[in-house]
Amino acid sequence: MRKTRDKATANKLKLPKKHPLSTENALGKYRSGLLDWYGRNRRKLPWRKSPTLYKTVVSEFMLQQTRVATALPYFERWLNEFPDFDSLAQASEERVLKAWEGLGYYSRARNLRKLAQSIVTLKEVPQDPKSWQSFPGVGPYVAAAVTSISYGAKVAVVDGNVVRVLTRLFAIDDEFRDGATAQRKLRPLAQKLLDSSRPGDYNQAVMELGATVCHRKSPLCPTCPVLKHCKAGQRDETEKFPRISGKKIQKITIERLWVRKKDSILLREIPIDSKRLAGLLELPRPEDFPTAIKTTKKKLVLTRQRSIGNQSIKECIRMAELQKNTKFPQDCGLRYVKIEKLNEATLSAPHRKWLKELLEQER
Ligand code: ADE
Repeated sequence: MRKTRDKATANKLKLPKKHPLSTENALGKYRSGLLDWYGRNRRKLPWRKSPTLYKTVVSEFMLQQTRVATALPYFERWLNEFPDFDSLAQASEERVLKAWEGLGYYSRARNLRKLAQSIVTLKEVPQDPKSWQSFPGVGPYVAAAVTSISYGAKVAVVDGNVVRVLTRLFAIDDEFRDGATAQRKLRPLAQKLLDSSRPGDYNQAVMELGATVCHRKSPLCPTCPVLKHCKAGQRDETEKFPRISGKKIQKITIERLWVRKKDSILLREIPIDSKRLAGLLELPRPEDFPTAIKTTKKKLVLTRQRSIGNQSIKECIRMAELQKNTKFPQDCGLRYVKIEKLNEATLSAPHRKWLKELLEQER
């Protein structure tokens, strides 16, 4: 179903009739220009040094929603702690989440561990992107990146960087509903441009070009190895592409409670079946308390604004008191955590920051 729709939507992309890449000869020059540039300019990244399937999988999981510069220290620490699929498969989910702490989108860490647990049971690891998509947390992007880089599978990667490069090369002025739609619709075109003799290098080269030259703002066109093939670059109109409709921003307010006891803070463990952040600790919201527990709200101690996806969230943290000797039912997820143990606890980056700020306020 998805395949036929991709084909149909690809035909609907408004590609310019006369394009510099419309002949096989030009395509060959584009590919070799890009690959030569990549050979000379590629960044020395730890997962590119003596690459293994494991390093490629870990790096691509990390890079799905995270920039290279942010992922780098995590990658190094991860490989020290979990050097291979076996060690990752055997690690507790708690340890894995702790190693991921601060990278966000924690389902990636849980899925990576589950993927390792699947891989270690296999006699042979599949080498095609379709089989890879049946592993936990592996969508078209990771499947294409991993199998092209590790096994030379002839499949094109399309991420946000590739969308930018392709829409500019072809001056595609279709307006896409969102980034994911743009990636899906551009997949057939990406596949056409792929250098099938070196798919892994080609894919990394396009992503590298998007990350280091074809910037969203002020791209470095004079240094671009494929400028002569680039319709938008030739017209000096790069910043017009890609056209992605503005996201509808949903404004929400979340109230949280700051409940202190001597040397401890009341936190809540996010239930394991929760879609986001399962297993992490956070400051509890009023609705996280069983109805039998009475909370007395006091003054507002911190407000913070943040964005997640299309949500603009105002976080309001209020001091609160509970009745003396309040007991929490075991399954409610609420528990006091000693301040000295906070470093060992797994918290999302914003919650860790708020706790630090609130503790500093108390001084
Ligand atoms: N972004 C995500 N994966 C990448 C890779 N392998 N090379 C360059 N940029 C990337």
